[in-house]
Amino acid sequence: MIRLGVNVDHVATVRQARMIDIPDPVEAALLAETGGADLITVHLREDRRHIQEYDVARLRERLSVGLNLEMAGTGEMTAHALALRPDDACLVPERREELTTEGGLDVVAHADQLREVVARLRGAGIRVSLFVDPDPRQIEASRELGADAVELHTGTYCDAAVDRVARELEAVRRGAALAAGLGLEVHGGHGLNTENVTPIAAIEEIVELNIGHSIVARSIMVGMVEAVREMKALIAGAETAGG
Ligand code: PXP
Repeated sequence: MIRLGVNVDHVATVRQARMIDIPDPVEAALLAETGGADLITVHLREDRRHIQEYDVARLRERLSVGLNLEMAGTGEMTAHALALRPDDACLVPERREELTTEGGLDVVAHADQLREVVARLRGAGIRVSLFVDPDPRQIEASRELGADAVELHTGTYCDAAVDRVARELEAVRRGAALAAGLGLEVHGGHGLNTENVTPIAAIEEIVELNIGHSIVARSIMVGMVEAVREMKALIAGAETAGG
């Protein structure tokens, strides 16, 4: 069974629009648990545009499921992660001006810095995944750095024009097979929604998907419990069909 990580960042985005205390991403996370979320994912960004440290601390106290912290691989964020103690950390590239994470981490170019961050987090008992494009060089470098997992960036597949979808899906498939063959756990995420998740969830090596925006958007219409249930059912259906 693929684990579904529900990312509640954008509940905090709505809260931060007014700088008050509603809607509460922790309350949303607890409803996501009721809907069947297997873990809760949040991204503590450098500019704190949505999730704040106190959200991560409250999630740590109140969740029954695991907590996955997306973070830049910087010294400041590593210190926060060591204090906040998520179960998992996913290292992502981060630029202040971006609307959302754009592209995977360049593990090859930043190998020295990332090696140290991976070792410090793993030394504290935090499982580490690296968010990378389904590019063989990045996947091999992730293995070499000692990561537990890679989260394959599915955004290029999700945003692809019709004539490129099959090629981008094949890239994710090959990346998943390569990563699993190297002994890495394979996760996926970014841009997934009810229209595009099925072929990704049918990839045998993928054991975890992290999905945020589309679930939060749907939750405005049908509530968080139902939005998570819908996504879980689609993923389960794809897995069964994929054998
Ligand atoms: N995985 C990673 C590493 C991300 O950075 C994000 C966005 O925060 C997601 C998954 C979720 O992406 P989306 O909000 O498009 O579902």
